[in-house]
Amino acid sequence: MSESNIPLYKDPKQSIDARVADLLGRMTLEEKADQLRQDTIGKDANPNNVGPDNPFCPTVGSILSFPGGSKERNAYQRLAIEQTRLGIPIIWGFDVIHGWRTSFPAAIAQAASFEPSLTEALSRVSAEEAWADGGVDWTFSPMVEVCHDPRWGRVVEGYGEDPYTSSRFTEAAVFGYQGREPGDLAKEGHIAACLKHFVGYSASEGGRDYTYTDISVRALREWYLPPFEAGVRNAHARTLMSSFNDITGTPAVCNAWTLDTVLRREWGFDGFVVSDWGGVSQLKDQSCITDPGEQTIASLRAGNEMDMADGVFRCIPDLVKSGRLSMELVDRAVARVLRVKFELGLFEHPYAPERPTEETCYAPASLDLALRCARESAVLLRNEKSALPLKPRAGLKIAMIGPTADSRSCHIGCWRALSPIEGPDYAPTLFEQAKVFYPDADITCGIGCTVAPYHHTFGEGGWNERTPEELAAEEASDRKTIAEAVELAKAADVVLLCLGEEIWMTGEYSSRVEIELPGRQKELIRAVAALGKPMVALVVSGRPLALEPVLKTCDAVLYLWEGGCRGAVAAMEIVSGAVNPSGKLPMTFPRTTGQIPIYYNDHTRSRHWAHDYLIYPDGPQFPFGFGLSYTTFEYGAVSVEKKGSGFTASVSVKNTGDRSGKETVLWFLTDVEATCTQPKKRVVGFRKIELAPGEEKTVSIDLEPERDLAGTASDGSRFLEPGEFRISASGRSEASFRL
Ligand code: GLC
Repeated sequence: MSESNIPLYKDPKQSIDARVADLLGRMTLEEKADQLRQDTIGKDANPNNVGPDNPFCPTVGSILSFPGGSKERNAYQRLAIEQTRLGIPIIWGFDVIHGWRTSFPAAIAQAASFEPSLTEALSRVSAEEAWADGGVDWTFSPMVEVCHDPRWGRVVEGYGEDPYTSSRFTEAAVFGYQGREPGDLAKEGHIAACLKHFVGYSASEGGRDYTYTDISVRALREWYLPPFEAGVRNAHARTLMSSFNDITGTPAVCNAWTLDTVLRREWGFDGFVVSDWGGVSQLKDQSCITDPGEQTIASLRAGNEMDMADGVFRCIPDLVKSGRLSMELVDRAVARVLRVKFELGLFEHPYAPERPTEETCYAPASLDLALRCARESAVLLRNEKSALPLKPRAGLKIAMIGPTADSRSCHIGCWRALSPIEGPDYAPTLFEQAKVFYPDADITCGIGCTVAPYHHTFGEGGWNERTPEELAAEEASDRKTIAEAVELAKAADVVLLCLGEEIWMTGEYSSRVEIELPGRQKELIRAVAALGKPMVALVVSGRPLALEPVLKTCDAVLYLWEGGCRGAVAAMEIVSGAVNPSGKLPMTFPRTTGQIPIYYNDHTRSRHWAHDYLIYPDGPQFPFGFGLSYTTFEYGAVSVEKKGSGFTASVSVKNTGDRSGKETVLWFLTDVEATCTQPKKRVVGFRKIELAPGEEKTVSIDLEPERDLAGTASDGSRFLEPGEFRISASGRSEASFRL
């Protein structure tokens, strides 16, 4: 007992180590086993939450996906605190991926802003709303997977193809959720982050979900591990989620090399790892381990402490009693879980506030932040004949045509937590916002064609294929609405084509076989383009799409991503010229599906002069880092100076246009001569600056040899060799230097 005569583990004046040890020493084997289980107790807005619903167990370690918010959480938490022997609080988890109720742009859109401070700010708001309104202590976010394959639905949840960019946004998200200072996590409104999915899920073959991955150690070290390392070592993320995939044959949920050697021994991680939904029991699907006991032993031994939703860890007591599982291994896992619970302050404040949603969510400042994020994320891909900005003027006739013209859900996208997808005061549509920004214009709207958000349902089969009759009905409907759209376009001065994908066409279990515009959008474009009217395309999507049909017909193309509840507002601010677009692509846009994978930091090769494919243009439609502005920027010469053991590179950037604008300076490094193939270039830094017309600023970057110049060898080891290097500023200006 502590001097305050309460059990030591309940005394906040004691060290966390002491509290963990004291509590562990008091727990029975059954109580320990319960702490390593995460149950779900009900349905919510997340179609992934498919049960099994478990009867509530007050000694369970964690609960995920509970639709009843703080009130429901507190009611159950009170049973855990007051009706159990030791009163260990439950940690309440939820997928708060890009907002709780205030919906922010998807992660891939956030990355397009190249402004991590916005991600930190929106993650802070998400945490406060999720805790105060939802009773959430722990979010299964950020997803930090570097992705080269836009067919993969979950590309929308990550920060694109670049390890450095993904690392900076990962840190920002974790700081936003957890806070930056030691002790912040224990403050109310701060929630534990969860880096996922550890590791290599995005390398699933063919962009299909949950499939085999063959990942070299080199690829792990150069691409897939860095954002996780940044989240653990730089931002102190307190949890990770192991991924569904195997890593070149060894399932991630029981992969001792990633979970123990890398995560704990190399990086010093001291939080805990939760499996993904059913990941432990799915070892049988991976034809690795079918016996629940062996599954449990393998995942605990590797370093996966908590079992999400499938209840496999219920066998722990029997395993220990039969001598198949050591108590030391159980204690190690339980201690890791308890540590995070103590760090969260759950023993001091186990309950969330129960205040009205309108007091805790949708604050004007939060909605304004959502707008700022959407503004900075939109990417202007084409702007010929000064088609944009489209200046508002009386009598202007605008036809808004396409499946995303009057949709709310397309901007919100997957993993929307409790973000509503209806109600004009919440997430306005492009059509509604056009009427706001062009009050004196004559604006018509037509869907053009259907883009059904046909989403897989989970579980066996689950592919909601439509019947021939449904398909025939849809085709007939599309023919009719395409004809109607043509009539609207005939009467217009300008056509805004509102294209892209609908909610849940990206996200989990939403891989597509191609990245073309879905449905009959290509027919719609051809039909309207035949009129020869000026056309501007607005594209809403959570993935890079093949845009050739749009680029051949439209004078301007603005990529909106899934821009969240203020996505349509930001779109019209940019179309009307009120805002100058500044987003850059965080991922390469292929011309066509057949080019995948195609990404900027691919490796040098022999016969560099060779074409990629027969009778097809080389290279992507748009490269990583591409994005236009309504103004122009001029780069000066890059200079490189010695600075201590490293170098400083500098470049001046001038706004040579007639309006203010933001430019992201991307620093690309090339190791010109190395003993193994290296990326043709790789990002080692970026900075977004704002320049008034005529204004010039100098941007610099310090290059430290070990951190920035070292490469990754074939065996995954880091190497630093003397020789020539090149540093490029956004591909606009470069300089060579020698180490
Ligand atoms: C899912 C997802 C994971 C999510 C978890 C809980 O299957 O893979 O990203 O956090 O289940 O919903």
